[in-house]
Amino acid sequence: MERVLGLGVGPLAAGTVGLLILLKVIQRLRRKQNLQDKVVVITGASSGLGKECARVFHAAGARLILCGRDQKRLQDVVEELRNKNNNGKIQTHTPCTVTFDLSSTSLVSSAAKEILKCHGHVDVLINNAGISYRGNILDTHVSVQRDVMETNYFGPVALTQAILPSMVDRRSGHIVVISSVQGKISIPYRSAYAASKHATQAYFDCLRAEVDRFGLQVSVISPGYIRTNLSINAVTGDGSQYGGEIMLLLSTKLLFSLY
Ligand SMILES: NC(=O)c1ccc[n+]([C@@H]2O[C@H](COP(=O)([O-])OP(=O)(O)OC[C@H]3O[C@@H](n4cnc5c(N)ncnc54)[C@H](OP(=O)(O)O)[C@@H]3O)[C@@H](O)[C@H]2O)c1
Repeated sequence: MERVLGLGVGPLAAGTVGLLILLKVIQRLRRKQNLQDKVVVITGASSGLGKECARVFHAAGARLILCGRDQKRLQDVVEELRNKNNNGKIQTHTPCTVTFDLSSTSLVSSAAKEILKCHGHVDVLINNAGISYRGNILDTHVSVQRDVMETNYFGPVALTQAILPSMVDRRSGHIVVISSVQGKISIPYRSAYAASKHATQAYFDCLRAEVDRFGLQVSVISPGYIRTNLSINAVTGDGSQYGGEIMLLLSTKLLFSLY
């Protein structure tokens, strides 16, 4: 009988311990993923990826601070989120908005103060806003190269550096930047964009190594092509708007109207 019990108890105990460890791991992962009440800042929240992030984080119960240049467009996103049907399991919050142009460093520091005033701190900063560029180097003004750099590189850098000290003080925070696959590989006719994303990758890699000791996390996301307004809003070599997909749409319409 003892032998039977002995044989049965050993594996049972080992199985129970294993199960408890697994439960602990799942609990830890869940805690990590829990975004309820977390303060999340999203730049470029009026459109595309930023707007989609806003939808996902809002549904997870985060306290959002949505940023962009156009207050009306941001307010439309807030209204859309408020009208979303919530199954009641997660408590959602009405997002705050902060309007500023990322390409102006002096505006970014006052915007950062406004952002910090909303809830007193930031848990997650998502540097998403950006513009694209289409043109060949021979025909591109240096001022255009600089403008793309201001929005895609210096803007996120200035905002991050303005928010960073408060994260260091709290020994808590996650900084995310939306780069691009073009931050790793350069292709023709995208010089300004690829350069700005390469610089982004380098800066945030350095930042990750520097702030790890404070318990802060830094993530660089490098998506491939996603159909948003990015190419429509892209700037060309002379600084005018590219309007790529609109042109495609117009030419398709024209083609169909011939039949
Ligand atoms: N779509 C893709 O294929 C793709 C691929 C890889 C990476 N990405 C990256 O993903 C990010 C989001 O792009 P998206 O595709 O979602 O493009 P999008 O639909 O054009 O959205 C861009 C957002 O950035 C904001 N923005 C642009 N210039 C700004 C400025 N000077 N100051 C403040 N906000 C500004 C815009 O807001 P307002 O105009 O309302 O100010 C808008 O909300 C960008 O960093 C882009 O490089 C996109």
